[in-house]
Amino acid sequence: MNKLDTALVTSALKEAGFTLTESVKEADVVLINTCSVREHAEQRVLSNLGHLKHIKKSQPDMVVGIIGCMAQRLGDKLLEHEAVNIVCGPTQIPQIARLITEALERNEKRLAVTEKIRKSSEDQNQALERFESAYGIEGKQIPSQAFVRAMRGCNNFCSYCIVPYVRGPEVCRPPEAIIEQIKKLAGQGVKQVTLLGQTVNSYKYKKDERTWSLADLLNAASDIEGIEWLRFVTSYPSEEFFDEIMQVMADSPKVCNYLHMPAQSGSDKILHAMNRNYNATWYLELLARARATVPGIAIAGDFIVGFPGESEDDFEATVELLKKTRYRNSFIFKYSPRPGTTADKRLQDTVPAEVKQKRIAELLAVQKKISDQLSRDFLDKEVKILVEGLSKKSHLNIVDSGNNPQLLGRTATDYIVIFNGPVSLAGQFAKVKIKKTSPLTLFGELT
Ligand code: 5AD
Ligand code: SF4
Repeated sequence: MNKLDTALVTSALKEAGFTLTESVKEADVVLINTCSVREHAEQRVLSNLGHLKHIKKSQPDMVVGIIGCMAQRLGDKLLEHEAVNIVCGPTQIPQIARLITEALERNEKRLAVTEKIRKSSEDQNQALERFESAYGIEGKQIPSQAFVRAMRGCNNFCSYCIVPYVRGPEVCRPPEAIIEQIKKLAGQGVKQVTLLGQTVNSYKYKKDERTWSLADLLNAASDIEGIEWLRFVTSYPSEEFFDEIMQVMADSPKVCNYLHMPAQSGSDKILHAMNRNYNATWYLELLARARATVPGIAIAGDFIVGFPGESEDDFEATVELLKKTRYRNSFIFKYSPRPGTTADKRLQDTVPAEVKQKRIAELLAVQKKISDQLSRDFLDKEVKILVEGLSKKSHLNIVDSGNNPQLLGRTATDYIVIFNGPVSLAGQFAKVKIKKTSPLTLFGELT
């Protein structure tokens, strides 16, 4: 979600006449796009602001803007920071070019956040929609790939989560706007589109007596020439539309067989306290249904360890659930109290830091074992990948006779594949025979 916002803002600023620089020393304007999901992410931003404060001593005219969730959450408190000139929330990004121009011209501080974030205004939604349609058509940060928002905000109010308070209520974009945007992207050579939403599987839009679901969107996008792979993240474990979405995945060769659907915990007591509306048994049934409809589907999820009141037994239930999910990968986080959320207001952060650390390590070890077993199944098999470009990390790989660099690609099931090949393959599909595996990465040779 944040990467998409960065791409949109970059595109809007280019149109307004700005050019991009990676060097702070050269910059007239520095923008930091922020995340508030965990405290750690916010602390990193504050430490960056400390550096910028020093740099501003020698570059006093430099304008520093904070955009994103932290801007909405902290508002004028953030504007008080010596280094900060602009604070602009996620629902105000259509105004960013104007705010920067004003800050540059008048040397005044600018605050743009939504006062009542849970009340969505029609004007604001329209402005966001126009911004999205205008600037969401060149978002190719990775060759041949683009992100397209299906919905904004969230109405779920999981008790630990800040998102509903900083991104506002759920708003689904009109299907024709989404499809039009994907057509334009396809026209520019985009081959893979990822539809985005906090709970993207609950996408719903009433239009001419008919309700569009994510399944309908995927179907319509599958008809677009040039688009080869379609993905969607993130899914919330929910009955609504689940079978339809899995059926489209099974039927359409373009919809990648990959589902990111966080469980968060395996303890029914903790799931209830998290305000997740399911229990562990039902969650596993849902995965079984997904696997029955889409054989070979790769499933990934998130967990929070150390939620208030999480006992050893609760944690054991999470370990048991993870073993049963056979996730191909999981993202595991330590509970981080977020001010304003119901968990923070009502529950004490009781699990000590070292216990959280121990639990995260244990869960990661269980996941590593599962991932390793799943990866091994690829040995000596050929996989189709979309090549992203040069591998940033250098891996010890099989010898390549042609002296080609190491490239990175992904399978439809989101496995990272490292192989040697010509850079010209970036943005293209390729076939690779897997010769070596590790838990999260496959290594092979072009075939
Ligand atoms: N503390 C820790 N992890 C969190 N997440 C969301 N809120 C918190 C929090 N307060 C995690 C969830 C979610 C992922 C994006 O971040 O696992 O799925
Ligand atoms: Fe946060 Fe829950 Fe919404 Fe996900 S579904 S964004 S965890 S409130």
